[in-house]
Parts: sequence; C-alpha cells; structure tokens
Amino acid sequence: MTVSVLFVCLGNICRSPTAEAVFRERVIAAGLEEQILIDSAGTGDWHIGRAPDPRTREAAARRGYQMDSLRARQVSPQDFYEFDVVLAMDNANLSDLQAMQPADVTVTLGRFLDYASGAAVSEVPDPYYGGEDGFDRVLDLIEGGADGLLDALRERL
Ligand code: 4NP
Repeated sequence: MTVSVLFVCLGNICRSPTAEAVFRERVIAAGLEEQILIDSAGTGDWHIGRAPDPRTREAAARRGYQMDSLRARQVSPQDFYEFDVVLAMDNANLSDLQAMQPADVTVTLGRFLDYASGAAVSEVPDPYYGGEDGFDRVLDLIEGGADGLLDALRERL
C-alpha cells in the first residue's frame, strides 16, 4: 500500500513547501519514500511556477533542508481524487479547501497540526508579511508535527 499526502497553504512558497521538505526528510529517514508520496500546493495563484520564498529557503537551509528544486502550483479539484490526505496549514486554507472539495471524494481533509499529535497550536501562522523569526516558527511547528503525522500515516500503509 501507498499513502499520498498534499500539504496546502495560501501561496505555496512558505509553509506548505516547508512541510513538504521537512516531511520528505522524515519519510526518507524512515525508509518509507516508496510508500508515502508527498506534494504541496497553494490555494492562491500569485506565485505559480516560482521557487519558495528566499527567506523560507534560507531558514530551511540553516536546518539542513533543501528546497531549491520546489516550484509553486495551485491546488485543483483533481487533487482531491489523487491524494489520500490533504492537510491545510491554517483555518482559512481549510475552509477554502472545503469549498472546493468535490462531493464524491473519500479524501481525509484536515489541518496539519491537528493530524499531527502533540502540537500546542492548531494553525501554522502565515510568515509572509511578518519578521524573520516567523520563518523559524514555521519550521518549529512543522518539525514538531512531522513525527505525529508519520505515525498516523504508517497506520494507513
Ligand atoms: P504561504 O505564505 O501561504 O505560507 O506560502 C504566503 C505567501 C504569499 C502570500 C501570502 C502567504 N501572498 O499574499 O502573496
């Protein structure tokens, strides 16, 4: 069995590509890269085709995550058929996804930090218009949630 997971934020240049990079590293470390398929997308269309935000890439690189090859794309209704699990970074992303979700899909749709165990907050805050420390906060939250998510997805393999 395989399980596929799509991380979704607004622009697909800060939070969801960070989740993609961090979670991919955990999945590779667990030897599960053939079984757990990972992608990310944004609800918005402003940054389609762009690499992640340089501030995101720099913060990630300081912790050893490589994000240079990622490119932003927009989530589409087809994604609800192609992925088993779709995880929003915040409540606005979740309600946008709920509004887009086709009626006949069996996808698990939720928030990343709910699906992951042990998180003190339920949303990954948008760092785009904030200060530099917002990008480290995104990494802290995503790293903190990644193990819980990996445990939850193992049960679906
Ligand atoms: P993300 O951050 O949703 O984590 O990728 C943002 C990136 C761009 C914008 C907003 C949030 N924007 O308004 O362009």
